[in-house]
Amino acid sequence: MAKAKTAYVCNECGSEHSKWQGQCADCGAWNSLSEIVLSPAAKNAPAAARRSGYAGDATAPRVLSLDAVAQTVEARTSIGIGELDRVLGGGLVEGSVVLIGGDPGIGKSTLLLQMLGALGERLNGLYVTGEESLAQVAARAQRLGLPLAPLRALAETCVERIVEHAAAHKPKVLIIDSIQTIWTELLTAAPGSVSQVRESAARLTRFAKESGISVFLVGHVTKEGGIAGPRVLEHMVDAVLYFEGESGSRFRVLRAFKNRFGAVNELGVFAMSEKGLREVPNPSAIFLSAHAGPTPGSAVMVTREGTRPLLVEVQALVDQSPLANPRRVALGLEQNRLAMLLAVLHRHGGAAVYDQDVFVNVVGGIRVQETAADLPILFAILSSFRDRALPDKLVAFGEVGLSGEIRPVPNGEERLKEAATHGFLKAVVPKANAPKKARIGEMEIVGVERLSEALNAIL
Ligand code: TYD
Ligand code: MG
Repeated sequence: MAKAKTAYVCNECGSEHSKWQGQCADCGAWNSLSEIVLSPAAKNAPAAARRSGYAGDATAPRVLSLDAVAQTVEARTSIGIGELDRVLGGGLVEGSVVLIGGDPGIGKSTLLLQMLGALGERLNGLYVTGEESLAQVAARAQRLGLPLAPLRALAETCVERIVEHAAAHKPKVLIIDSIQTIWTELLTAAPGSVSQVRESAARLTRFAKESGISVFLVGHVTKEGGIAGPRVLEHMVDAVLYFEGESGSRFRVLRAFKNRFGAVNELGVFAMSEKGLREVPNPSAIFLSAHAGPTPGSAVMVTREGTRPLLVEVQALVDQSPLANPRRVALGLEQNRLAMLLAVLHRHGGAAVYDQDVFVNVVGGIRVQETAADLPILFAILSSFRDRALPDKLVAFGEVGLSGEIRPVPNGEERLKEAATHGFLKAVVPKANAPKKARIGEMEIVGVERLSEALNAIL
């Protein structure tokens, strides 16, 4: 046998290099290259096809009018778990490959088993377990109260044999729990190594595209929060969903990080119970912590992750620092954004926190990526700094610019309505987002253009 060819793949950006280097020449990350073994099949396939995972040439390509194709693509099936359908962009797409990542014990296996249960007889599923025994899977299904007869499971870790079984059984949905346990006969590397994970995922992706079977891959998350194995796994699949939650909280958030068939940042909310995951179809108020009254350092914002508004509490703690370099800790939002907001607060809000430790946390373990969080974050910080609670039933949103201006955010009216529905009495928002009428129901709306105006509005 010829000596196996190897290459190096960057875990950060997924680019390939023929030689090992300390720094990835493409993305500049240090120490991110891992050696992979190229399989003979993969070596002969064109590089681009190999990277995208579409090397399957079982059917010779033809030139077609898109009109003729449009009717056949995107046949969607509703799963019957509303929050999961929502995150997938409106249901399960035939032949799609979905990667679900999350910490161990967060509920990935439970969710996918419940999904098969919900599909039941409608769509034949196959659950491939590489981590648990069949008895453990059956016991869990029983505990979840799922109908056992339509559930098919297979304990197998070799990708070639999985594909054989699936081809024989013809399920419509194939679940691989987890991709890190799967290996291919083409490579001699150990299961779980980057090359095995990559090749196996590529094989399964090809299989999904050829057969029209929808494949779900479970992926473990590394300490840094990415899916173990190179980023190339994320490029290969159609959708990447992350299952997140705070330890100790029973709420779980499923977030679309990439989706070729729907909106990214769409959130699905679940609660873990003794009977498995339950949907939380109206989650807008669960991210508010239950204070008896107004507390210093707490502000409520209306964020719009995905396609619906959510009321979320941000908490800040600002305290005299004993350190020469005070701490800046941001949980659930970007660290750099916090540093920028503190600079704006100093320059345009007149509050100097350079000698203070600043901790900011988004309640409920959710992550807020949009800039609408800027204003409420500054409110929470200032409130903690002055040790004075914000007015009761106050809600805010708005982007803060470097010159202290408050910029509008998308879907202002929808956010305001959501806040009014939940009994908030005052909203401080960008002027361009404020409606002409200064109230919605009981709620007074204050439109502001500058940070100084916003701070005056809450005094
Ligand atoms: P699991 O689906 O095994 O997580 P993952 O596959 O992401 O590692 O979830 C396991 C956790 O969920 C475990 O801590 C127990 C809890 N759990 C419940 O609280 N209720 C249930 O009905 C089930 C099945 C699990
Ligand atoms: Mg599991």
